Amino acid sequence: MPNQVKYVLQESEMPRQWYNIVPDLPSPPPPPLHPGTHQPVGPDDLGPLFPMALIMQEVSGDRQVPIPEPVLDIYRLWRPTPLYRARRLEQDLGTPARIYYKYEGVSPAGSHKPNTSVPQAYYNAAEGVRKLTTETGAGQWGSALAFACALFGLDLQVWMVRSSFDQKPYRKLLMETYGATVHPSPSDITSAGRAILAEHPESTGSLGIAISEAVEIAGGNEDTRYSLGSVLNHVLMHQTVIGEEAIKQLAQAGERPDVIVGCTGGGSNFGGLAFPFLREKMAGRMNPVIRAVEPAACPSFTRGTYAYDFGDTAGFAPLLKMHTLGHEFIPDPIHAGGLRYHGMSPLLSHIYELGLIEAVAKPQSECFAAGLRFARTEGIVPAPEPTHAVAAAIEEALRCKESGEEKVILTALCGHGLLDLQAYGEYLHGEMRDLELRDTVISEALAGLPVGV
Ligand SMILES: Cc1ncc(COP(=O)(O)O)c(C=O)c1O
Repeated sequence: MPNQVKYVLQESEMPRQWYNIVPDLPSPPPPPLHPGTHQPVGPDDLGPLFPMALIMQEVSGDRQVPIPEPVLDIYRLWRPTPLYRARRLEQDLGTPARIYYKYEGVSPAGSHKPNTSVPQAYYNAAEGVRKLTTETGAGQWGSALAFACALFGLDLQVWMVRSSFDQKPYRKLLMETYGATVHPSPSDITSAGRAILAEHPESTGSLGIAISEAVEIAGGNEDTRYSLGSVLNHVLMHQTVIGEEAIKQLAQAGERPDVIVGCTGGGSNFGGLAFPFLREKMAGRMNPVIRAVEPAACPSFTRGTYAYDFGDTAGFAPLLKMHTLGHEFIPDPIHAGGLRYHGMSPLLSHIYELGLIEAVAKPQSECFAAGLRFARTEGIVPAPEPTHAVAAAIEEALRCKESGEEKVILTALCGHGLLDLQAYGEYLHGEMRDLELRDTVISEALAGLPVGV
């Protein structure tokens, strides 16, 4: 159809399997290590934190993992998600490039996060777990898990990074609406939180601190497990429904991507979009450039180091080999709260080391300018995180304008920003700052990397 904007799939065309990229890679990623012994962690080490089904997915060597029927039934509430051609944005930019975006903001919680919160809640409930704990940055992950826990009758406690807790009261209310309890992090109800508050009473928090608090409570209570919204292999695998659908939808449009861009906090929406395309690329069926976009205020890929580091600030969580700014790094409280993690998914870090993907960093004012331009042409207000992807898509489209190339650009618009309007307000009123991140701040945080690993 000429001028087609939306490419939609039937429910019957929804993927019935998640894609595990690990067996297709030239080498496997280095294993997580026990924080005390520095030996590879086994299922028994992870048992106090995760249900066995997820532990087995974390180390799975199967290329395809079936999606359980009860999870598919819930996915049907919003999946398959639409793929849009950004015709009005293209026109506004005057570019010959064709820009497509896979929109995950149609989920009940407004982002891609329910793609993994639902299976995580399902597997926990199936193994008799009654309570979960988690952290949340922007509040998107917390609301996604609160939604999933409501469906499976699980009790949920969320540690929300203090800066987001103050900036996003409606995210907190959304979590409470779904039945969760929300604590600002650092909090005085965990030893990890109290230790931070003793040293920095005004701490704005970080994902690393919030993870320590949630892990501490899960590890110390027999009936409680912990749930993570990004970073780990099984989380990225659950998100591959995004890329699998996008492959079918781009085929409907008669297109193959030349460039794929996505924002990276811990890497889950980017991995979810990119991995199925990377499979096609490694098999020689297409050849897109795949580019991660991270915030200049928390640049783990582009300015971090590739080393074993703690997944959390207090050092309770396993050591992960990843691109990291150091677990003691506290990023500037930028509005893209979901991108403020000191590390990067070990799987994506490994893939980056293999040279299969590239990365760039963008300051938030450029991203909000891009988000505004997107909102004023396409109508959807992007969440602060995917404004990074939109900024990179616009940059690429403007390059095409210069060169005259008709590239196909694909991105994930992984969430809407209707609960993030305060951040847009600051941008609109000229109050948004881009703080320079000095090398010394990074090197000081990296000096705290664990030794002897
Ligand atoms: C809308 C949105 N996009 C992106 C992210 C970043 O996470 P990830 O890199 O795992 O996709 C978050 C995290 O909270 C988010 O809420």
